[in-house]
Amino acid sequence: MYNAFFGFSQNPFNMSPDPSFLFRSPQHEEALASLIYGVQSRKGFIALTGEVGTGKTTMLECLRDFLNAQQVAFASLFNSRLTPEQFFELLAYDLDLRCNRLSKTEVLLSLNNLLLERAGAGRTTVLIVDEAHNLDWDVLEEIRLLGNLENRRGKLLQIILSGQQELDRKLEAPEFRQLKQRIALRCTLKGFSVEETRAYINSRMARAGVTHQTILSPALVEEIHFRSQGIPRLINAICDNLLLTAFAMECKSANMEMLDEVTTDMRLEYPGPKPFRPDSNYPEQVLRQSQARFRVE
Ligand SMILES: Nc1ncnc2c1ncn2[C@@H]1O[C@H](COP(=O)(O)OP(=O)(O)OP(=O)(O)O)[C@@H](O)[C@H]1O
Ligand SMILES: [Mg+2]
Repeated sequence: MYNAFFGFSQNPFNMSPDPSFLFRSPQHEEALASLIYGVQSRKGFIALTGEVGTGKTTMLECLRDFLNAQQVAFASLFNSRLTPEQFFELLAYDLDLRCNRLSKTEVLLSLNNLLLERAGAGRTTVLIVDEAHNLDWDVLEEIRLLGNLENRRGKLLQIILSGQQELDRKLEAPEFRQLKQRIALRCTLKGFSVEETRAYINSRMARAGVTHQTILSPALVEEIHFRSQGIPRLINAICDNLLLTAFAMECKSANMEMLDEVTTDMRLEYPGPKPFRPDSNYPEQVLRQSQARFRVE
């Protein structure tokens, strides 16, 4: 809607996990490198966890691009609210197993043959499970058993479990101990620092066609970071709404009032200003700075 007004060729703050907008922050770079390394060196289980909206699905999309380019076969499950029967059916469908996909025994036999054949030819096979925190115990147990398949050169199936932090907590439970022990690599994503938030916003705008943006001032970006806690999805949502508000008011740059309006409309919760307790010995300059920062009357 506002693209032409600001000079964008496409929406810079689209919510989809699009690898073409990938911002290579050190932690995202490290997570992607670990996923690729884990798969290539046949580590078996790899876990990717992180807060809601920190970029886990985006990392998996990047990994899928890599696997496609390397012609590595993979099955990718997004809907983790599955029964064991549905899990095997989807697995068979994704790996194109020629068997009765409704029979667990047939799927397992056919999968075992495929994995042995591919491993024999020096090829890797991957199972990616997103939203893995939602997996039921019985499906997780089936996945653990699939992770046991191995030949003398390593695991036959590389399994990536990605999910919110509940996944870490779930794996701590006594019934998941065996699975937890098998996880060879772990990556965790957190919110961006303020510098990363700035670079992230600039990188998305540049990708959408505006290389030196002046729509959001450095002070406004700092406040966006504070209110979003550096979570990419929240940054996108705030910036998208801010640009829309500025466009509606025919302003080429956004301001603090617009940000207040946007975050109020979004019902965004963020740590509020800390209550300030002035002390008579406090240096006057510090006092003035603090009052400005926390807007103390
Ligand atoms: N490194 C990044 N580069 C570019 N965009 C990113 C990056 N990380 C996250 N995003 C953007 O943030 C939004 C949320 O990312 P994503 O859906 O990957 O998060 P998630 O961790 O899978 O969230 P959830 O926990 O809800 O599944 C998407 O719009 C995505 O494009
Ligand atoms: Mg996701």
